[in-house]
Amino acid sequence: MPSLRTQVGIVGAGPAGLLLGHLLHLNGIDSVIVENRSRDYVIDRVRAGVLEQGTVDLLNAMGVGAGLQRAGLRHEGLYVSFNGRRHRVDFAELTGGKAITVYGQNEVVRDLIEARTATARALYFDAEDVSVDAIDSSSPILRFRHDGVDREVRCDFIAGCDGFHGICRPSIPPAVLAVYERAYPFGWLGILAEAPPSSDELVYTYHERGFALFSMRSPRITRLYLQVPPDEPIGNWSDDAIWEEMLERMTTRDGWQPNIGRIIQKSVTPMRSFVAAPMRYGRLFLAGDAAHIVPPTGAKGLNLAASDVLVLARALKAYYERDRREWLDEYSDICLRRVWKAQRFSWWMTSTLHRFSDESAFDYQRQIADLDYLTGSQAAMTSLAEQYVGLPAEVSFESAGLPAAAQAVPTT
Ligand code: FAD
Ligand code: PHB
Repeated sequence: MPSLRTQVGIVGAGPAGLLLGHLLHLNGIDSVIVENRSRDYVIDRVRAGVLEQGTVDLLNAMGVGAGLQRAGLRHEGLYVSFNGRRHRVDFAELTGGKAITVYGQNEVVRDLIEARTATARALYFDAEDVSVDAIDSSSPILRFRHDGVDREVRCDFIAGCDGFHGICRPSIPPAVLAVYERAYPFGWLGILAEAPPSSDELVYTYHERGFALFSMRSPRITRLYLQVPPDEPIGNWSDDAIWEEMLERMTTRDGWQPNIGRIIQKSVTPMRSFVAAPMRYGRLFLAGDAAHIVPPTGAKGLNLAASDVLVLARALKAYYERDRREWLDEYSDICLRRVWKAQRFSWWMTSTLHRFSDESAFDYQRQIADLDYLTGSQAAMTSLAEQYVGLPAEVSFESAGLPAAAQAVPTT
């Protein structure tokens, strides 16, 4: 069996795995990335669209921000819509000039795969039977089959960046892992449509028929979501039925509504909140969706994956350069502080903007009052704005080997 050797074995070539691989490369640390899907599948998968200011700064500092600078759409606010009226939350004014950028996760992943390929470091797609072994020893092993050949990689560390359904988290003995979970009684039906966005900024709508979200991917492509029952078969929704429901929920009294166009992609996603703690066992470190899931209403999942791997890259750099282990030991605690704040925010956005099957007329009026308070109070809007653009990371770019100048939010 061909046996390879690397410093960090990375399972998964989603945003977490690819970002970590590149951060390590920039610090002269070798890695092998193993992904069980094809390159095209990983790039084409339609998911996140909103990058926090800190994620944008990170991509730029890593030298992989060219596509983002060219095609990313900078948004300095968003709209919250209820009772037929849109109310703007001005991020830039409320947060001292910060913003979010709309740039599809598939573009982020494409840019990172290109950067990885240029480094000539190992990246295996279409790997089969991926497994990890000896994770509580000083030399964990990553095994997989590629092109019909069984392979074994001896590593110093393994990073489990393989998402919620991956194999790394289940490799940790269940007795050492605490799991915190909440399922929601609805999912999101999401579409991509060939239609120019009819608003420059996102619109989060609370409607008596349920939540709806207006977003975009480019000046020609609109991205829209609808609250639907969980596990709703997408086959239940014809394109005409989708547009009818979108317009019913989103049209405001001043006549604003999304532009209609050909639907080029549609799917239903379940919603859940999930945290597994600690995010480390022996020499296996979990990052991103492998350790935590947030409902997408706060647009936080990809951003949390980015902040996790920044913390991990700093710890691995300190280990290799100075034999310092305390940042490895603190990895889970540092990440979980930010994760729980994002969990709280995502839960709050979800609870405030969706209709629940067991809610009463009281609950409906209370949610309207919540939104009325939010959009009428500078303090409440500031709280939303600072969380939406992203709470500061605890780790500085410099400590992870990146230029500090690129970090808009200074940290220690
Ligand atoms: P993943 O992207 O899941 O990557 C894990 C990788 O591991 C995958 O490529 C997978 O194929 C691979 N893998 C799995 N099992 C194995 C195995 N056994 N062996 C090898 N490889 C394996 N987040 C935001 O920040 N902003 C948003 O606006 C936003 N919107 C969203 C909208 C929707 C509809 C959805 C579904 C999600 C959204 N998210 C958003 C969340 C975001 O997409 C995820 O949090 C993000 O993909 C997490 O990245 P990751 O690398 O941790 O995991
Ligand atoms: C998206 O554009 O896909 C998107 C935007 C905001 C969210 C979730 C998804 O909260």
